[in-house]
Amino acid sequence: MNKKIILSGMRPTGKLHIGHFTGALENWVALQGEYLNYHLIADYHTLTTSLDTSMVFEDSVEMAIDWIACGINPDKSPVFRQSQIKQHTELFLILSMLITKARLEKNPTLKEQIRDMNLQSVTYGHLGYPVLQAADILLYKGELVPVGEDQVPHVEITRQIAGVFNERYTGINGKLIFPVPEPMITKFARLPGLDGKAKMSKSLDNTILISDNECNIKAKIKKAYTDPNKLRKGDKGNPDICLVYTYHKKFNEPELSQIRDGCASGTLGCFDCKMNVASKISDYFLPVREKRLILENNKNHVLEILIEGEKKARVIAENTMKEVRESMKLG
Ligand code: TRP
Repeated sequence: MNKKIILSGMRPTGKLHIGHFTGALENWVALQGEYLNYHLIADYHTLTTSLDTSMVFEDSVEMAIDWIACGINPDKSPVFRQSQIKQHTELFLILSMLITKARLEKNPTLKEQIRDMNLQSVTYGHLGYPVLQAADILLYKGELVPVGEDQVPHVEITRQIAGVFNERYTGINGKLIFPVPEPMITKFARLPGLDGKAKMSKSLDNTILISDNECNIKAKIKKAYTDPNKLRKGDKGNPDICLVYTYHKKFNEPELSQIRDGCASGTLGCFDCKMNVASKISDYFLPVREKRLILENNKNHVLEILIEGEKKARVIAENTMKEVRESMKLG
């Protein structure tokens, strides 16, 4: 039986944090055997919110290093940069005719970005970026798209566009060209930031990086938000409102009930609790850091991996575009 196709993508933001791991990467790695995966580095997408492209190349390479160190196998699952496959822009242009401006203006994720970034106006490309994302997915005939909640509206837009296309244009003998993809929601979607905010995010400077060593992790966790009513060892705490406890849930399951009881009864102090989880997080990512170091010292090899992934992706993308052009009688 043919494996189902998964298209997953991320904007290159440089070194990834452990929230990226729990929210996406871990899941991508787990899906590798059962599905055929394509891993897209969405470098064009960064232009929607910043025109400073000085770091986009380095950030893409750093992100690829994190992906591979965490267990993405580029021999099985091509890893590639969107900008290196020109078919994305061609399909984007065609698909942009199949959806209205009003529909794109309704996109809740765009509205959130306008609010959060306090944007006074929106560029044409930013409004249309879900259409570029639709092209990313449909070029590889993606059937499943692993995403967090915030990206679900974009998969819905992709579904709508695929439906409109399929209704109007078909391949030989009426064969449908695009599958209508489904979102696959990641369950541990959000790891809270060190400041207690709902999400780890580079711009909030509240992250633990996948590449951070034990010393960095300890220094960062020392400052993490805990139950404000627990001031010293002996005070009773409420683990349910403590961010550090959330990290224990993810990285220290075996000791969870012990931590919970210790915090609630006061016998466990915040400092010890923090140092404990910091070393668990560090241990968890130790093999990743080791693999990372090897890749980091051989960036040319990483670039070769990308070029190889791009060759494979380009063949698939061009096949799809041939079908699209034929069905539309565009040459
Ligand atoms: N829009 C996604 C983000 O901002 C990144 C992305 C681009 C993507 N193309 C994609 C995600 C295709 C999934 C599938 O995070």
